[in-house]
This record gives sequence, C-alpha cells and structure tokens, in this order.
Amino acid sequence: MNTKVSLTDFAAMKQRNERIAAVTAYDAPSARLADAAGVDMVLVGDSAAMTVLGHDSTVQITVDEMLMLTRAVTRGARRPFIVADMPFGSYQVSNTAALENAVRFVKEAGADAVKLEGAGSSLARVAALADAGIPVMGHIGLTPQSATMLGGYKAQGRTAAEANKLLAAAIALESAGCFALVVEAVPATVAAHITGALRIPTIGIGAGVDCDGQVLVWHDLLGLTAGHVARFVKQYANIGGAVLTALTAYVADVRNSRFPETQHTYAMADEEALLFQSEKATASSGARTEN
Ligand code: KIV
Repeated sequence: MNTKVSLTDFAAMKQRNERIAAVTAYDAPSARLADAAGVDMVLVGDSAAMTVLGHDSTVQITVDEMLMLTRAVTRGARRPFIVADMPFGSYQVSNTAALENAVRFVKEAGADAVKLEGAGSSLARVAALADAGIPVMGHIGLTPQSATMLGGYKAQGRTAAEANKLLAAAIALESAGCFALVVEAVPATVAAHITGALRIPTIGIGAGVDCDGQVLVWHDLLGLTAGHVARFVKQYANIGGAVLTALTAYVADVRNSRFPETQHTYAMADEEALLFQSEKATASSGARTEN
C-alpha cells in the first residue's frame, strides 16, 4: 500500500485486528526511513526535547521548535500519517490557545493530526480541536509532561482504582473526539481492557501486546539513547555503537594522515601542476624582490 495513510485507515485496521506500527521521528532522513520500512504513523514526539535537544524532560521544548521538527518530518515521509505532539504550555491554558497552536501544526508544518496529553481539561481541548476539523490523538497513563505530578516516570494504573480512572479517561477522550489514544506504561491487562472498551485504536508504549498498535521512541528503538532506557523498550539495533565505532576510526585516520586517500582527492593534470609550481615560484620571488 503506497497511498497515504488516512484517519479512516486506523479505525478500519482496528476492525480487522490489524496492528498499527508507529514510531517517533524528528527529522527528514529518519522520516524517509520510517516511510520506507512501512511505518503507518510517525509521531513527532515532544520526546525530542530529551532525545534531540538534550533537555532533561519534555516540558522545555517550544511550539516553534516542534514546528521546525514537524516540517522536517513532513518533508521526509510521504505514506505515513503524521502526528505532531503539542508541547507543554501550548494547550493547557485555554481552548483558544490550543486551537491557535494546533492550527499552526497543520497549516505551517503539514501535520495530519496533533496529540495532547491527559484527560481533565484536555477533554475540552480535544472537543474544540475536533470541532475545528483537526484530528486529535490522546495520551493517557504515563504522561511525561506531568511526570512531576505523577511522582516521576513510573508505570500507571497498577491498582484497581487507578485502572478504573484510566478506563474512564479513555472513554471520555473517545467521546470528546479523539481518533486514537496512546496508552503509556500501563499493565497489559488494563491496556487490553481499555482497548476492548473503545472503538478508536489504542497505540501502546509499555502497555502490552493487546493494544491496537505500538509506538517506540526512535532513539530507544535504534540504540541511540544515552543513559536509562525504560523496561518496555525493545532495542532493534545498536546504531549508537556503530556511530561511535565509525567516528573513532575517522579520528584515528585523520590523526595518522590515512584520510583522505587518493580516491577522495581531486587530481590536476601534470602540466598544469608544473605550470602552477613555476608560476608560484615566479610569484614568490617577485614578492621577495618588491620587499
Ligand atoms: O513524545 C513522545 O515521543 C511520545 C511517545 C512516547 C508516545 O509521546
């Protein structure tokens, strides 16, 4: 299937029990690779604050930074559906602010949809954006923008009471107009129950195999993350290791004059080189005479 993935494809995939493959990406070459690999949905996650910009949480990234990354991703990917994460502060204040910022992601950056975290006040935002024709993906469970309120980056919904709250939030987000829901760091049984209770697809990250789709952060999946990696991550490659090996070899080659080699170097015809040498000699002896 080479036609662009659309919103209705996700509902149809859920009905067919066909899994949705999603991944984050933050630049054009990564988006191109995700497209080539058959990824259905690319999320320009605000995890970019940590993975790309070096912050220690997601809250610092700005709308303008997210717009720049989203533009790069929409330039690189053709087939996947592209969701832009609305960063912290861009939707919490009011429906109007949420709408103004969401419009920028669609209009200026070419996103197909936006994502925002939580239920509570986010329910009114989802309804306002959906009413304006902007598809919205919800995000429950471990919501990194409110990690401080949650007591850190911890699994959620591990008691019956918490699990019921998550289920209620999921149903409310669906009613508010979400087309899909990210469920992060939640026991598999709870995520399976939520998935069964919704018509819209769930996209799990650390939420077990029964979600309708899965998403992983680019850097985690490819072994580019420095430091702690969550237990729910499966690392499919060690690109960080490969990059380090390559760069170390490059540094050694430069230090030892092994790079560049003949094939990396432009040649000059012998007669031109001789002429250049003799003109150079004349020019430098002239310069000495003038002095
Ligand atoms: O920002 C992000 O990458 C996300 C995923 C973890 C779902 O929200």
